[in-house]
Amino acid sequence: MERCFLFCRGLFSFSYGNLFKSYLLLGSLFLLMGCQPGSGEFLEQNEEPIETDYLARVQSEIFSPICTQCHQGQQAPLGLRLDSVEQSFNNLVNVTAQGNGNFLRVEPFSLERSFLWLKVTGNSVAGQRMPLGLPPLSSEQIQLIEDWILNGALPSESQKLVSLAKVEFKSEQEVVYVQFTFDGFINRGSVIPQSITVRSMHKLIQSYSLTDVNDTGFTIRVTKDELVHGQLEILVGENNGALIMDQINRPLDFDNNEKAGGSYVYSIQLER
Ligand code: HEC
Repeated sequence: MERCFLFCRGLFSFSYGNLFKSYLLLGSLFLLMGCQPGSGEFLEQNEEPIETDYLARVQSEIFSPICTQCHQGQQAPLGLRLDSVEQSFNNLVNVTAQGNGNFLRVEPFSLERSFLWLKVTGNSVAGQRMPLGLPPLSSEQIQLIEDWILNGALPSESQKLVSLAKVEFKSEQEVVYVQFTFDGFINRGSVIPQSITVRSMHKLIQSYSLTDVNDTGFTIRVTKDELVHGQLEILVGENNGALIMDQINRPLDFDNNEKAGGSYVYSIQLER
């Protein structure tokens, strides 16, 4: 930016008379083009942004106005609450259908294996058509559910950030386990050694293992031999090389302040 500023100022100081105007124009042109690489503001001005938050639309156009007549609160049939994007996502995606255990309620990218889709299209495999006792969904509404599933059944961007729900400690003869559980779905691929720091009295422990990585958490296993004076500290979140993300690649809210990021340190002193 500084280099550019000097350059443009140079242009102005050498210009005079009629030339001044064109240099001025040229100067601002450089400012726009040369100094703001990649800001596609000018190109995209007239294009409508494509709405890709399918779950937000499914929620506001279908689940909330139609399905929550029944699928709401403690009394929701089969525990299938659809009263918020969080509930809908957690109760549908990758959850086994109770009506038929061979299906998931929603299997990302597959309509035929998603019980929700079979139910709203009236497929005989799925029993009663949804919405129960009401007119079937329109083809546009079904299309919207299809768009959501075929694009990976992602959570909504308006969904609450995922944060730490609990940390459990378990000690065995030779090893200790620390299990981290989050209150929503995490991106398993982001749970890698670089996103976690394990140490004891400031000494880095590299030989820990990451076990049982699942959609809502992971466990860290450390052998007691590695611990200095029985002290163990595990750091997740900022200060590390990589961050653990949710399924739409937002960093988790590690410090529970309703903002993405932050860090959390678990620390324990073993009895000896
Ligand atoms: C009038 C009440 C009512 C309405 C409205 C309703 N449902 Fe249902 N739903 C039920 C009942 C009762 C069941 C359990 C019996 C069954 O599976 O047919 C059920 C079951 C389901 C299941 C199967 C869950 C499983 O694990 O087997 C899905 C999926 C479902 N509903 C989706 C919807 C959707 C989506 C809507 C809105 C478009 C909707 N329902 C509207 C009453 C309702």
